Amino acid sequence: MSEDQRFSRRDLLKMSLATGGILLAGSGDPLLAQGAARVPTSEQAMGPFYPVLKPADQDADLTVIQGKPGKSQGQVIYLLGRVMNQNGRPLPEARVEIWQANSFGRYTHPQDANPAPLDPNFQGYGVSTTDGEGRYRFKTIKPAPYPAAGDWVRPPHIHFQVTAGSTLLVTQMYFEGEPLNEKDRILRTAKDLGSLMTKLTPPTKDLDPGSLVAAWDIILP
Ligand SMILES: [Fe+2]
Repeated sequence: MSEDQRFSRRDLLKMSLATGGILLAGSGDPLLAQGAARVPTSEQAMGPFYPVLKPADQDADLTVIQGKPGKSQGQVIYLLGRVMNQNGRPLPEARVEIWQANSFGRYTHPQDANPAPLDPNFQGYGVSTTDGEGRYRFKTIKPAPYPAAGDWVRPPHIHFQVTAGSTLLVTQMYFEGEPLNEKDRILRTAKDLGSLMTKLTPPTKDLDPGSLVAAWDIILP
């Protein structure tokens, strides 16, 4: 019997709560993280807006820029989860990069032709390195939709590039229940749409009361 199997489901849940673990999205059952095979997170196009010039401030809090007194506009979200392999083994020291549009749907990128305003207090790009239990965490804002081509409007999404050893995953994360998800030409190309969805939930007591939590696990192939 493996070490994982010696714990009951109740023990595992207690451990998860005690260590500050959170019920993570993706499989719908956080206990699957303890050893069962999981579907890898689908790849998605990188898109044209990976930063050409990365901001001087590249930390995991995108809602403030070092040296500036203001805060980003928009709905604050805590974006967090674990990077794991297909067996549910957490991957420490993985580099998780995100980039995204601001709360008006505009990227801080010279190629973004969207006339929506820039937010001078939004970092737009950030990096988090996973801890010993494979956890990453960002504080950011929920991005707005933006026009792509013709009548195609991209749903709110956050771009990810995850590097663990020699494994690289480029993808995009989406928010469950967004009507624009239904017809998005990029999302529809995903091998497993469910692997790209997060669901916003109320904050835990230690977080800003007005914030929301977006829990999302990343399974590398
Ligand atoms: Fe995008």
